[in-house]
Amino acid sequence: MSEAPAGSQRAAKRRSLVVGNWKMNGSAASNEALLAALKAAPLGDAEVSVCVPAVYLHDVADSLHGGAVHWGAQDCSSHESGAYTGEISAAMLAEFGCCHVIVGHSERRALHGESDALVAQKAATALKHGLVPILCVGETLAEREAGQTEAVVGRQLGAAIALLDKRIDGVVIAYEPVWAIGTGKTATPELAQEAHALIKSLHDTRVLYGGSVKPENAAELLGQPDIDGALVGGASLDPASFSSLCQIAASLS
Ligand code: 13P
Repeated sequence: MSEAPAGSQRAAKRRSLVVGNWKMNGSAASNEALLAALKAAPLGDAEVSVCVPAVYLHDVADSLHGGAVHWGAQDCSSHESGAYTGEISAAMLAEFGCCHVIVGHSERRALHGESDALVAQKAATALKHGLVPILCVGETLAEREAGQTEAVVGRQLGAAIALLDKRIDGVVIAYEPVWAIGTGKTATPELAQEAHALIKSLHDTRVLYGGSVKPENAAELLGQPDIDGALVGGASLDPASFSSLCQIAASLS
């Protein structure tokens, strides 16, 4: 693990965490092949997790049980239990051995109208059941162009800090600029670093970068002092790319 430069106030760089977000991809057959390749691939000593569609958690837990790769889900309910058709509780995810759960992904904020308050409540429920929430924040292109990045990210994170107080220490933040997700447009390392430094000035925790991360751009991004890992969409579906990303992350932590 690299140390902070002498005299710097900056915390030492944390061990990298690389999380694959499979989104709504896969099938029983293709997952089996992907997991077999993942288990056989060298991953370095980064911490690695895959967040998979909930219906596959049983198979994924079965396959990854006892190995180095953690697993998790892509969302959870803010409620404990009850009449919430279609929702999945944090307690249920915990039963399947989940380590992580993504909350507040921009796709859920945009497509399902999830508010900052709801996302914060989901993080609280996840923490209560021993899961590590990966709380996503990030601005749209219009917000960036209007100079609102700091305000938007501050508002999104502020809601979680206000609700969770000290419990926020158990949360991993993922900075995912919406305009960089699935577009092939990556934030420049400098721009990502700037956003990560802003987030850490609000709350000093592990902050992952997400948005078109691939082996070709990973070293520059993950080499930034405040980028502690990656939340990876498309490239996590390709075992060679994901393995390579994990090794790059491990070599830089
Ligand atoms: P891509 O890596 O496909 O851009 O997706 C990023 C993301 O949304 C991860 O949560």
